[in-house]
Amino acid sequence: MVRFIRSFSRLLHRTSASATAEGSLGLSVLSLIGPTALVSVLLLTMTAVRGQSLDLARPEQHFSVERPANLSTAESMVIYEKVRDRMVAGYRLSDDPAAESFLKWRRYNVAPYRSATHGQRYVNNYANMIAKSYGRYEKADRLPVGSVLAKDSFAVTQRGDVFTGPLFLMEKMAAGFRPDAHDWRYTMIMPDGSLFGTTNGEGSERVEFCITCHEAAGDKVQQLFFVPKEFRVEFLNLQ
Ligand code: HEC
Repeated sequence: MVRFIRSFSRLLHRTSASATAEGSLGLSVLSLIGPTALVSVLLLTMTAVRGQSLDLARPEQHFSVERPANLSTAESMVIYEKVRDRMVAGYRLSDDPAAESFLKWRRYNVAPYRSATHGQRYVNNYANMIAKSYGRYEKADRLPVGSVLAKDSFAVTQRGDVFTGPLFLMEKMAAGFRPDAHDWRYTMIMPDGSLFGTTNGEGSERVEFCITCHEAAGDKVQQLFFVPKEFRVEFLNLQ
């Protein structure tokens, strides 16, 4: 509960000041990828991340990075490599076991890609071994109970700042848990490890918007959208 209040007040702070509640890693793209970013960093001095006026108790969309950088695949890979461990250190402060282990799971995207549907953040998709048929993408059967899909995220602004973003989780629960959500438990963990919300648990109403969007993927694919085709890892050994 304390964690929840802490994250809530930080979010409130974000909407009143044009700052971000996301944990800044104190890194600049410049220091990570060298002088190529220099020109854009010099030209763009505006505040790049700004909170939006949203109903925080029941958000209808992600808080979005207002001026996201356009990174090449190589740049996004380099940045991710540098910030990954610190991102995970934040997520680990939550009690969620997935936050502890997801980096050891199979990754399904070849490089971080910018997800418009997750607040313009750069994201990666991981799945545990129980969920291994996720790698068959649209041809996957219903994933078994215990499947966990994890999406970590970071934001890069045109000004060159790098911020950690939330960890997004979907866990397949027992039949009947939440029938209209294909029994997925949607969870969002903030960069500092605080819980934003989890289906049928603390802050459940705050992650309803996940379901609202994911149900558009349809019943046939059990509310999964999968990795955009151009970023998919294709496994040759999966039937
Ligand atoms: C506006 C639509 C939208 C919203 C809201 C949304 N998602 Fe997603 N989600 C997607 C799309 C599209 C993908 C696949 C492509 C991508 O990553 O952008 C996806 C992928 C995922 C995945 C990987 C599994 C898959 O579907 O392939 C997870 C995990 C996930 N989202 C969790 C969440 C959680 C948790 C929330 C709420 C906090 C959420 N999402 C909110 C659209 C959305």
